[in-house]
Amino acid sequence: MSPTQNITDILMVGATGSIGRLAVAAAQRHGLHPRALVRDVRRAERLLPGVELVQGDLEDPASLRSAVRGVDALVLTHGSGSNPDARRRVDYGGVRNLLQSLDGARPRVALMTSIYATRSDIPGNSPWKRRSERLLRASGLPYTIVRPGWFDNAGPTQRRLVLEQGGTVDGGIARDQIADTLIRSLLSSTALGKTFELIAAEGEEQSDWAELFGALKVDDSGSVDGVLDPADLAFEAEPQEVLADLNTVRSLYGTSG
Ligand SMILES: NC(=O)c1ccc[n+]([C@@H]2O[C@H](COP(=O)([O-])OP(=O)(O)OC[C@H]3O[C@@H](n4cnc5c(N)ncnc54)[C@H](OP(=O)(O)O)[C@@H]3O)[C@@H](O)[C@H]2O)c1
Repeated sequence: MSPTQNITDILMVGATGSIGRLAVAAAQRHGLHPRALVRDVRRAERLLPGVELVQGDLEDPASLRSAVRGVDALVLTHGSGSNPDARRRVDYGGVRNLLQSLDGARPRVALMTSIYATRSDIPGNSPWKRRSERLLRASGLPYTIVRPGWFDNAGPTQRRLVLEQGGTVDGGIARDQIADTLIRSLLSSTALGKTFELIAAEGEEQSDWAELFGALKVDDSGSVDGVLDPADLAFEAEPQEVLADLNTVRSLYGTSG
C-alpha cells in the first residue's frame, strides 16, 4: 500500500481520552473507519457509541495483536498522566508494544506526543515521549509526529495553525484542532516523515493542509530524532532497556542504526 492512499481502517489508541474521542469523530467526518482500542469495553460503549471497539491494554502486548490486524493506519493519542513510571510503561512502552505487535504490517502512523517532548530544561519533564518518537522513527514506518501545545489554552479567535520545528515554540491550541491535524496528516503525502510542534495563533484556520505540512522539513532518514531537535539525550547515557528496544525495533523492521 502507498503510505497515503487507501487509508480506511484506523486503530485509534487512546480513543476514550480527551483528544482520542475527538480524533475518532474527525476520522468519521473524513469518511474513515475508526476501530478503538479500549481497556474497559462497557465504559467505552458509553463514550464512543456506535464505534467498533477492541479490548486491549498497551501494557499487555498479547492483547494488541488482534487489535492491529488489518488496519491501514494507527492514531496514537494515549497518555498516562504525570507519574514517571507510568510514562515509561504506557506512553513509551505502549508505542514499543504496538510496533512489536504489527507482525510485518506497515501501517501509516500518526503519533501525538507533546510540545515539551524535547525540553529537558522544563522541571519535571520526562524523556519518555521523546524516546517513544525515536522508536517510531527507528521502525521506518510512514509516520507523522504531532507535538501539541497546551490543550484548549487558546481563545475562540485563535484558530490559525502554527506548525514549528526545533522544540522551542510554546503556546496552546484547541483540542479539536489537534485531533483534526492528526487525521489530516494521515491523508496528506506532504506530512510524511515529519515531526512538528503545533499551536494556534490569532486568525482563521487555514484550509490548504498540503501547504501547511509541505512547508515543514522532513526528518533525516536514518536519524531517530526530529529534523531540528536539540542534540541532547545522547545514546551513551540512555538506559540499556531503551537501547535494547531500539535494536529490537530495528531488527524487526530491517532498519539500520
Ligand atoms: N494537557 C495538555 O495541555 C497536553 C499538552 C500536550 C500533550 N499532552 C499529552 O497528552 C496526553 C493526554 O491526552 P488526553 O487528554 O487525550 O489524555 P486522557 O484524556 O487522559 O486519555 C488518555 C487515553 O489513554 C488511554 N490509556 C491510558 N493507559 C492505557 C493503557 N495501558 N492501555 C490502553 N490505553 C490506555 C486512556 O484509556 P482509558 O480510558 O482506559 O483510561 C485514554 O483513552 C498526555 O500524554 C499528555 O502528556 C497534554
